[in-house]
Amino acid sequence: MKSDPVKTEHVIHFCDARKMKPVSSGSIDLVVTSPPYPMIAMWDEVFCGLDSTVGNALLKRNGFQAFERMHRILDRVWKELGRVVRTEGFVCINIGDAVRKIRDDFCLYPNHARIMSAMQENGFMPLPAVIWRKQTNAPNKFMGSGMLPAGAYVTLEHEYVLIFRKGGKREFMTESEKAGRRASAFFWEERNQWFSDVWFDLKGVRQDICDKDVRKRSAAYPFELPYRLINMYSVKGDVVLDPFAGTGTTMLAAMASARNSVSCEIAPEFAGIIDSRVSGLKDFANNYIRERISRHKDFIAERMAAKKPVKYVNVPHGFPVMTRQELGLCFEQLGRIEKTGENRYEVTYVPVAAQETAAAPAASDTVDSTSKKGGTGIKKTEIPGSQLSLF
Ligand SMILES: C[S@@+](CC[C@H](N)C(=O)[O-])C[C@H]1O[C@@H](n2cnc3c(N)ncnc32)[C@H](O)[C@@H]1O
Repeated sequence: MKSDPVKTEHVIHFCDARKMKPVSSGSIDLVVTSPPYPMIAMWDEVFCGLDSTVGNALLKRNGFQAFERMHRILDRVWKELGRVVRTEGFVCINIGDAVRKIRDDFCLYPNHARIMSAMQENGFMPLPAVIWRKQTNAPNKFMGSGMLPAGAYVTLEHEYVLIFRKGGKREFMTESEKAGRRASAFFWEERNQWFSDVWFDLKGVRQDICDKDVRKRSAAYPFELPYRLINMYSVKGDVVLDPFAGTGTTMLAAMASARNSVSCEIAPEFAGIIDSRVSGLKDFANNYIRERISRHKDFIAERMAAKKPVKYVNVPHGFPVMTRQELGLCFEQLGRIEKTGENRYEVTYVPVAAQETAAAPAASDTVDSTSKKGGTGIKKTEIPGSQLSLF
């Protein structure tokens, strides 16, 4: 579904991700997803509905059998990813471990470790993972024997983003592929934050869903999580898949990042929520992009105030940047989001308005797009490719 670069397409299939028939083999560049979490009570009903042996194991109060049965359901989805993800594609899986007391046995169910081995069995190479801090403020967050040793338990306040690649490093061969990659670059300071293995800055999500049953089954992750991963592991115009779409956060982040997307979700009740989130996306996403640019300008202003060097000037927007890899980095805003069919959308992009980017820090002799010191001294007019286009 690679589309015209100034437009992206988004489709949601209400189907069981264990058989993603509508998704063609090798058509997916990146998967960003969060499955139902085995052994977290809110997902018991979903797992029992998908395989009755899960219910039997829970009734027998056999925790590890239930854990294994739940994972076997997910294994079938990971196997499907082996089919739909193209060689050189990435998979990012957000997952938390579970703790649970069954009979008198309190123990940890290590979901992340179980998924890592399943993904490896399906031919995906594990890459360094991210742990993100998911703080809980619940008054009863400390479990066990309180202030008395030795029966208290550490509180789980983190989740994982497991990262995998199918096959080797992605190659960008043609001039247009290279230009697309340069336009999809992120800022130096974002690289420093995003590629750290611990993320402390993600905020939890308030579940603003009116329907109580749907709210019970929604466990949306923060928008920043798929947005960051999409920008880290794909380029504009790529196709991003979420096999466990829920409220559609991955699709929204793909729309905001000028990537196409395909989503699968087993519960059709989510259609209305996804639709209403899409209708509010344009302003939200454009503001999000504006804030990204504004954070960059603050970063540069601080550097300049500290008399630290800033060597390059970005071509499409004219703001100073740290490295030559950011010269072609190009933002666009969402112009129009159109519903083109049942559970289908098309997004059209427009260039970022000049006033959003022009107010870079005043020209200064610390900004030098031609300097040879510490860089290659490339001039902005020397950059190959068509950076001025949207992609
Ligand atoms: C943790 S939630 C995903 C939340 C999502 N990331 C968001 O931001 O809203 C997992 C979702 O997977 C769905 N699900 C469970 N089993 C599924 C299956 N076999 N196929 C497709 N979707 C499934 C659930 O209905 C639930 O919406």
